[in-house]
Amino acid sequence: MNSYDSDRLLESVRSTHEQVKSPETADVIVFNTCHIREKAAEKIYSELGKIKKIKKNNIDTKLIITGCVAQAEGKAMISRQPIIDAVIGPQMYHKFNKVIEEVKSKKVLELDFDSQDKFKYLKKKRLNFSRSAFVTIQEGCDKFCSFCVVPFTRGAEASRKSYHIFDEVNHLVENGCKEVILLGQNVNAYHGFDKYNNEVNLAKLITSLEKIKDLKRISYTTSHPVDMHEELIELHGYSKKLNPYLHLPVQSGSDKILKLMNRKYTKTSYLQIIDRLRNKCSNIALSSDFIVGYPNETRRDFKDTLDLVKEVNFAQAYSFKYSSRVGTKSAKNKINNISNEEKNDRLQELQELLNTQQRKFNTDFVSKKVEVLVKGKGKKINQYRGTTKWMQVVNFQLSKEAKSIENVKIIKASNNSLLGEVL
Ligand code: 5AD
Ligand code: SF4
Repeated sequence: MNSYDSDRLLESVRSTHEQVKSPETADVIVFNTCHIREKAAEKIYSELGKIKKIKKNNIDTKLIITGCVAQAEGKAMISRQPIIDAVIGPQMYHKFNKVIEEVKSKKVLELDFDSQDKFKYLKKKRLNFSRSAFVTIQEGCDKFCSFCVVPFTRGAEASRKSYHIFDEVNHLVENGCKEVILLGQNVNAYHGFDKYNNEVNLAKLITSLEKIKDLKRISYTTSHPVDMHEELIELHGYSKKLNPYLHLPVQSGSDKILKLMNRKYTKTSYLQIIDRLRNKCSNIALSSDFIVGYPNETRRDFKDTLDLVKEVNFAQAYSFKYSSRVGTKSAKNKINNISNEEKNDRLQELQELLNTQQRKFNTDFVSKKVEVLVKGKGKKINQYRGTTKWMQVVNFQLSKEAKSIENVKIIKASNNSLLGEVL
């Protein structure tokens, strides 16, 4: 979502500013920040050290912090690092134009929650086009998982109107886009309205987007298991455009930990969702997020996570050590009782298992023919890079201009990508 937001921020000042290649030549430097885990949030302050030198040489250069660290830390960011000139929360991006002017003469703070205004601003046409595009359809979250800062930084759940999304996607497709990835912190909780004020859920939204003829692929992320409704699961069975891919964070395989996390499902009910999905779409690639070392997680609880992973067989996954985030329920409990060493051990064990599964998933594609949506040039001469419907990266050589979709035979697989030959 930050990548999408960064593009939109850039687009909103296109008439007055242009993008430069290095910060040394910039009038305005923007850091779009992530607060989800401690590591991401701390990164910003180490990066700011470099900007200090640039600002010393160019006294008129302004530094603006956007994103969730801006929202969470607000004015305190300027006290901690006085080289910061403005702090803008994620719901205030429609004011970016104004801030970029105001910041020339004073420090600026924009930290309110005003998601509908932001969505109005998002309605404006896109200026950056690519074959695969992110499109935000909802923001914020009402789930309040005990560990998570999102409800505090992105605010309450809010969905965009379905016809605004349709117009945005249509416009992207008219300009060459073939794949959209619908975004939201809790994307499958999407509940927008159409022109006639009828409620539209995610399954209905996807069905309407499928009617855009030249749109070839649709994906959505990130989903919560409790919002994985039957209509959406069924859509995975018969949709011609929905990618056979789902990122469905489980976080833990222990019912005790899931309850402490306030996730509102159990290991069994998660596995039932996976079964129902596989019944409709047998070749679906499943991805997930995991947290290890959550307060009071025992070796036994961790083993439940490993067992769940073995049962599901994931195609891809992200895993993290628990970190305490200010304002969350887990932070208020003031317990962080799993040592860093133990967290490291659990993370390594989990990642080894997940990596093995990912490698196996990819290796099974060797000798298969797949359609690759070409997204750009690769690192080597005459190399192109694209993705399969299962969201794997594929590199292939071609001495002429590649089409938007190429039929490719997979000849080699590694953990993170596939190598193919154009047929
Ligand atoms: N500590 C560790 N991981 C976290 N995540 C969210 N909050 C925390 C936290 N406090 C992870 C979850 C989520 C992903 C985006 O980040 O796994 O799904
Ligand atoms: Fe955070 Fe996702 Fe839980 Fe919402 S559902 S609180 S975004 S982890």
